[in-house]
Amino acid sequence: MTPEKLIELAKEAMGHAYVPYSGFKVGAALLCKDGTVYQGCNIENAAYSPTNCAERTAFFKAVYDGHRDFTAIAVCAGKDGVITCSVPPCGVCRQVMREFCQDDFVIYMADAQGYETRTLAELLPHSFRAGEHMDV
Ligand code: THU
Repeated sequence: MTPEKLIELAKEAMGHAYVPYSGFKVGAALLCKDGTVYQGCNIENAAYSPTNCAERTAFFKAVYDGHRDFTAIAVCAGKDGVITCSVPPCGVCRQVMREFCQDDFVIYMADAQGYETRTLAELLPHSFRAGEHMDV
């Protein structure tokens, strides 16, 4: 799976976004270690805070299906579905990634020209994690 192909799947996922309040469509494509890809979109809510980001939609679908090992995620976003600039995952989504992913998990953020690449360690340094900080 190339980054370009994963970004294509994230772009396709943007079309599923439910965004009556912001008009800002986000799509994500999450690559599992076994090669399976889960797509996600943002799903907004009239009360605003229950809104679910595209990245978490993809993670929750995959985790529901039993996946626990992940390689990379691609994210595409833009007003009315047109990608203008790269969108880094929000803090809540980064913490959800931290739950299931290692430091070398890769995040591809698409922009109008191409994409930016970061690792989870770069986006969420010095993070809280069960096992390291909690005796579970
Ligand atoms: N959003 C995402 O889906 N992912 C992000 O990483 C950033 C924000 C969504 C939530 C909301 O529907 C819209 O973008 C504006 O914040």
